[in-house]
Amino acid sequence: MPALAERLTQTDLDAAPERGFGVYVHWPFCLAKCPYCDFNSHVRAGVDHARWRKALLAEIDHAAARAGRRSVTSIFFGGGTPSLMEPATVAAVIERVDRHWPGAADAEITLEANPTSVEAGRLAAFRAAGVNRVSLGVQSLDDASLKFLGRGHNAAEAIAAVALAARIFPRFSFDLIYARPEQSVAAWRAELAQALAMAGDHLSLYTLTIEASTAFGARAAKGELSPMPEDDMAPFFEATQEICAAAGLPAYEISNHARPGGGAALHGTSGVPSTPGGECRHNLTYWRYGDYLGIGPGAHGRITVGPDKIATRGIKRPESWLEQVEKTGHGGEVEEVIDADERGAEALLMGLRLGEGIHLDNFRAAVGRPLDSFTTAAKLDRLIAGGFLRHTGSRLMATAKGLPVLNSVVVELLR
Ligand SMILES: C[S@@+](CC[C@H](N)C(=O)[O-])C[C@H]1O[C@@H](n2cnc3c(N)ncnc32)[C@H](O)[C@@H]1O
Ligand code: SF4
Repeated sequence: MPALAERLTQTDLDAAPERGFGVYVHWPFCLAKCPYCDFNSHVRAGVDHARWRKALLAEIDHAAARAGRRSVTSIFFGGGTPSLMEPATVAAVIERVDRHWPGAADAEITLEANPTSVEAGRLAAFRAAGVNRVSLGVQSLDDASLKFLGRGHNAAEAIAAVALAARIFPRFSFDLIYARPEQSVAAWRAELAQALAMAGDHLSLYTLTIEASTAFGARAAKGELSPMPEDDMAPFFEATQEICAAAGLPAYEISNHARPGGGAALHGTSGVPSTPGGECRHNLTYWRYGDYLGIGPGAHGRITVGPDKIATRGIKRPESWLEQVEKTGHGGEVEEVIDADERGAEALLMGLRLGEGIHLDNFRAAVGRPLDSFTTAAKLDRLIAGGFLRHTGSRLMATAKGLPVLNSVVVELLR
């Protein structure tokens, strides 16, 4: 049997994918706090938009001095609820990113939007501001479930917002949350079929997680809410994979589905398309362990400076972040060099979520060391024989059996 290093460095026609360089901008405000959500999102009576705009621009300037010349491949406005931003602020952020990294205004520019009628009314203004992709938080197409999830919209409003997004934006996606308490697989199949009938080139489908810090977490602790048992979720996940693949939107990541790109003739030997499909390029940068800037409260960044990869995180509380930016020009709270072992673990955990897996040349370039310096042939063989991993000459992938237990697979690989 060839040595691990030999097996993992065989090359075929499959070139390493572009990691890209993204800019994430966090808007931390929402109209109401959803009972399941543990994102850095806050309800505030009034937001001083002019102050926030100035602070976001200041932090972009600060980050640009550090990141240097690059080609920006994506900008992502996430939240919270960025559809509550003033379109002029969105335009100013795009313009500032483009000023530092010319060409950024033509990159993939996504904005997360809630499908209430008020926010739907602002979609055209966001398009005019330069946004070219919108991601709507539909969550469910069932009114009773939307009520249970504490959402401010009903199914009819969600359907109307999706139709409007499809007319206004070249690309759009929407999110659904499934495996909700009491939901049946049959009901989810019907809801997903309805969603697919109105989908564009991308869908994000998340199983409901109950986080301790949320209102649902508190209700679950008191026994007032019964989360779906892990074992009961498997048939939901399997139905999701099967139905989406049949509809032409297979999973390219655990929870994300897209219309694949490229033609058969363009595919490398691994079957990975060489032209882009509906995949979210910004999120691909995270999963391929590329660099990205985190702008705004609580935003995370990963940025290569010389030989180091640096992790950054902004102060979480919006008001504290704003005050620090006004005093010092940036709202950073954490800034630390990620050591090689951690880089390897992060790149494995992120990359194995992808259907395309980890490209070994890409891993070496992003982490600074080859994969075989983190593990051994024996460990890899054990996980492959156990049916958790598989590999081609240039890629290592998690199997359907490995995906749900990815954390343990990576621990085994690195132990
Ligand atoms: C930052 S949030 C949403 C953006 C936007 N504010 C909204 O609610 O539409 C991104 C997505 O994460 C998903 N999400 C958040 N908390 C979740 C949870 N506890 N379980 C499953 N999905 C969750 C939702 O689908 C949500 O749309
Ligand atoms: S799910 Fe969206 S709208 Fe609800 S609290 Fe979280 S970020 Fe805000």
